[in-house]
Amino acid sequence: MFVAGNWKSNKSFSEAKEFANVMQGMSPFPEQVEVMVAPPAPYLAAMGQEGLPFRLGAQNVSATGPGAQTGEFTAEMLAGCGVVDVIVGHSERRDGHGDVDAVVAEKVNRVLEAGLRVVFCCGESLQDRQSDVHFDKVLRQMESAILHLPVEVMDRVVVAYEPIWAIGTGLTATADQAQEMHAAIRGWLREAYDAETAAGIPILYGGSCKPGNADELFACADVDGGLIGGAALEPDSFRAIIDAAGRVASAKVGVDAGA
Ligand code: 13P
Repeated sequence: MFVAGNWKSNKSFSEAKEFANVMQGMSPFPEQVEVMVAPPAPYLAAMGQEGLPFRLGAQNVSATGPGAQTGEFTAEMLAGCGVVDVIVGHSERRDGHGDVDAVVAEKVNRVLEAGLRVVFCCGESLQDRQSDVHFDKVLRQMESAILHLPVEVMDRVVVAYEPIWAIGTGLTATADQAQEMHAAIRGWLREAYDAETAAGIPILYGGSCKPGNADELFACADVDGGLIGGAALEPDSFRAIIDAAGRVASAKVGVDAGA
């Protein structure tokens, strides 16, 4: 299981350091859970110098290489700061910051070329869902950013399904809605690559995931963790979600082993 926190544009630098200290002081995270936190970009270099109890993630990356690109930061720069995971294609960037499909695809390439892992976000709007085109929308996003990738890099790809109508709204996809979309994404990956590759790619759910609904969402067969916004801002709620993932991971291992 993989639990990733996306802080978006929240927290002062001192609050960010305090969060890391509090998490560091907690009992160890459950063994079967990988944890990542993506703070605002200006904090990455300093946070990457600390012994963090979680993987350090970035929320964005430049679609370009080094050079005359004022204000941009390359995947290699992120790697040099201790970043290991990069979120690409978040709906807040697609809708508000010009990250159209071609830009997202280029960012995915840059992250992978730098040896980092990409957390690729996809998801439909409420209108897409109401018009019953949500599967098409999400699978088209997969096609445009993922299909061209060689199988060799797919062990550094994580997919995050984030229905836009559930982000920051308090509305969560039901477990059934999450599972059917995750199964569709897994099926698409199986077709595009192979069964083993598809089974190995974590597919996270994001959108108002909280301590109170994490167990139910994570228990879905094709949900491998969560990309958490609001509930990742406080150590206690983030830890509660990590613990939910730990409980579910143990139960899923039991099921896989036929227990
Ligand atoms: P919320 O958990 O606040 O809904 O945000 C989800 C998200 O966008 C994570 O990337």
